[in-house]
Amino acid sequence: MNLRSRLAAVVLPARGGNDGSAPLSERGWRATVLGIHVVSAAVWTLAVVTALVGDVGTGQRAVLVVTLGVLAVAYAVAGAPAIAGDHPVQAVAYLVVLVGCFGVLAWLAPSLLFLLFLAYPQVWFLVEAPRPGIVWTVLLAVASLAGPLAAAADGADAQQALLSAGVGMLFSIALGVWVSRVLEQSRQRAELIDQLERTRAELAAAERERGVLAERERLAREVHDTLAQGYTSIVVLAQTAAAQLAADPAAARDRLALIEEVARDNLAEARAVVAAFQPVALDDATLVEALEQLASRFGRETGLPVRVDTAALGEGPALRRDEEIVLLRGAQEALTNVRRHASASAVVVRLARVAGQVSVHVADDGVGFDVAAARGAGLAGLRGRVEQVGGSVDVSSAPGAGTSVTVRVPGS
Ligand SMILES: Nc1ncnc2c1ncn2[C@@H]1O[C@H](COP(=O)(O)OP(=O)(O)O)[C@@H](O)[C@H]1O
Ligand SMILES: [Mg+2]
Repeated sequence: MNLRSRLAAVVLPARGGNDGSAPLSERGWRATVLGIHVVSAAVWTLAVVTALVGDVGTGQRAVLVVTLGVLAVAYAVAGAPAIAGDHPVQAVAYLVVLVGCFGVLAWLAPSLLFLLFLAYPQVWFLVEAPRPGIVWTVLLAVASLAGPLAAAADGADAQQALLSAGVGMLFSIALGVWVSRVLEQSRQRAELIDQLERTRAELAAAERERGVLAERERLAREVHDTLAQGYTSIVVLAQTAAAQLAADPAAARDRLALIEEVARDNLAEARAVVAAFQPVALDDATLVEALEQLASRFGRETGLPVRVDTAALGEGPALRRDEEIVLLRGAQEALTNVRRHASASAVVVRLARVAGQVSVHVADDGVGFDVAAARGAGLAGLRGRVEQVGGSVDVSSAPGAGTSVTVRVPGS
């Protein structure tokens, strides 16, 4: 991974199949590469001028100019493309030429070694990891040192040459390794964030899946507890009626009447189950509209008068989607219970907002029940779903006193 990919991975965390090498800011990167080209051209021109007017022999001057020419061609053909994109072969080819040219330049004209300030950063733009960066930096330093060492008149000169080459090399290595490390750390952090996000999405999907399974299980239980039992009774009654038909037609007629009754109950149950599991239509309706729809369908199907009262709702921040769904489900469950158990003569659905909390309240004037003794999956399941969004369910009822169910959500 070259510097560009590493930079890109930092700026743009890898996401869904992306290997992280797509640059976020293509323009920013292009400007950087252009800057490198411009600086390279300027420094190179300065080197050419120095070679032409500097204090060197004529034969050497020609070799210097040819070497600088080779450097320029290598940069144009291999170096520049390798800096701009992922071209490892060209990068190595250019680095080989670079080291060779610096050997020649340093041998013939140590005054041109200011070019190292250009070459060292180029190395770090071309390598894919810190280790090759160090190797190429050392090679470059050694190649540039051979000339000055050979030309050194005495030990002091040699020491001076060693010192300046060593300082330049160490400085370049320190900077290159430091930048690489920072980039690597940022890349790891970006990867970690990406992983966390993926895990969160997976958890959410698992949670949804669990919800769907729970819902399915509830449906199966409802069918078993209500419809299947009704049909079992019908089968038994029909068998008895058939057996009594000849001997006791009056008793058989009673059985038939019972069959009709049980079948009617089952039909009502089937409708109740369908109503309880009908998807709540919130897609393009507001919560109030969806509740009104639910109530009017309930009224049509049961013949019971339902009043939807939104007077206490008032204005407030919008509810979260999951909160709205939970409120609707609560109303649906409560209405299903009214239809099944209450024998009520009227129902009120009330929406209210108190201290930021939004509640749906379903009250009937039916037979009521002992809340502490009641067993059933419907209200318990509702409680679980409401608690998941941080809300609560209150059921208040007593035999003969009607029932009211209140579902509250925090209302963000
Ligand atoms: N509105 C109501 N009126 C009378 N009884 C009710 C009402 N709501 C619930 N109940 C009683 O509470 C029990 C538990 O209700 P629920 O948890 O919804 O289970 P299910 O409806 O499947 O029986 C019911 O079986 C019923 O006896
Ligand atoms: Mg129920």
